Amino acid sequence: MGTASKKILVTGGVGYIGSHTCIELIASGYDIVVYDNLSNSNIEAIKRVEQITDKEIEFVQGDLLDETLLTQIFSQHQFFAVVHFAGLKAVGESVAQPLKYYKNNVAGTVNLLEVMQHHQVFNFVFSSSATVYGDPEQLPITETAPRSTTNPYGRTKLIIEYMLEDLCASDPRWQVVSLRYFNPVGAHDSGKIGEDPNGIPNNLMPYISQVAVGKLEKLRIFGNDYPTVDGTGVRDFIHVVDLAKGHISAIDYLVKNSTDKKESIGFFAVNLGTGSGTSVLQLVNAFTEATGQIVNYEFSPRRAGDVASCYAQVDLAEQNLNWQAHLDIYDMCKDTWHWQSQNPNGYEK
Ligand code: NAD
Ligand code: UFG
Repeated sequence: MGTASKKILVTGGVGYIGSHTCIELIASGYDIVVYDNLSNSNIEAIKRVEQITDKEIEFVQGDLLDETLLTQIFSQHQFFAVVHFAGLKAVGESVAQPLKYYKNNVAGTVNLLEVMQHHQVFNFVFSSSATVYGDPEQLPITETAPRSTTNPYGRTKLIIEYMLEDLCASDPRWQVVSLRYFNPVGAHDSGKIGEDPNGIPNNLMPYISQVAVGKLEKLRIFGNDYPTVDGTGVRDFIHVVDLAKGHISAIDYLVKNSTDKKESIGFFAVNLGTGSGTSVLQLVNAFTEATGQIVNYEFSPRRAGDVASCYAQVDLAEQNLNWQAHLDIYDMCKDTWHWQSQNPNGYEK
């Protein structure tokens, strides 16, 4: 079976990473159905994906917790795989409302996997996170590094990974690629879709771009006394379009493995990052260089729960998925600014 006949269910496909991935899935010839409850996204994102790809997208507004609706969708379509983005992701909110996170992320994923099992759909690509590495002992971080987490959001990711490992051990028909994203930033180069956080952004890049566009007064840099190149935190920022393409590589890998009738992949965890670290201050300076926009900032105390440095070893993705990131920190800044300056109020909720 060629790629063209494969249908993919994209949960959370209206969100930031999901919407960019929809574009790449369509460009690669996959048929998609998007399932999202719009709890943290705007349907306008899908309309824009339709404009960019010149293709109509089948969208179902639904919740992971709605097993009846999920069952209906799986009865209507023969899916090759599910790419599972749907989940809540705000670390602070997860500390304040842990049950909301366990119910939505963990119970929601259990529901989805049960419905998949019932319909004999066993290929799964999961949105995991570098958060499962906690405070890393060694850099760059390899996939075999010990796992631990510091907050309920991170624990939902870790619990789901353990659950997927158990599932794969129980039945070789399950094939799971768990993609551990480092720090996704940037936007599609059309400037039509991008990250549209609710309220004041928690993450660095949307904060920088909102300062640049004049919506926020100044960036607070959390800590300048870390043991890093300039004292500010270091992260592995990855362009969301590179990240989106990583999902196509993961699905292609599942397709190839199914076609070649090789041994089951089982549970396979892979880092998606660039492999190099950039400090907060370096990112601020790169933003100004790439866009000409001044970003006012001040130093403030460290943010609780932050680690000093976090960047990926990316050999596994290169060797097994034949994937690597191509876009650099300037592309990330330029494309973020293109999206932000064209859409100062995001999708205008
Ligand atoms: P996002 O919030 O933009 O997208 C998630 C989407 O899932 C949203 O459209 C939301 O409406 C939907 N959703 C949430 N709960 C749902 C439910 N119960 N039923 C149906 N739809 C539901 O987030 P994103 O940045 O695109 O992240 C996608 C995935 O990647 C998430 O699982 C997130 O935890 C993970 N991740 C994100 C980052 C990051 O920095 N953005 C880093 C690592 C991992
Ligand atoms: N930072 C600031 N000021 C801000 C926001 C962030 O100085 O206003 C700093 C942070 O202290 C950190 C760096 O910028 O040093 C990156 O912070 P982000 O909040 O953008 O990203 P994190 O690395 O903290 O967390 C992100 C996601 C998590 C995910 C984690 C690992 O938000 O969901 O990456 O993948 F778990």
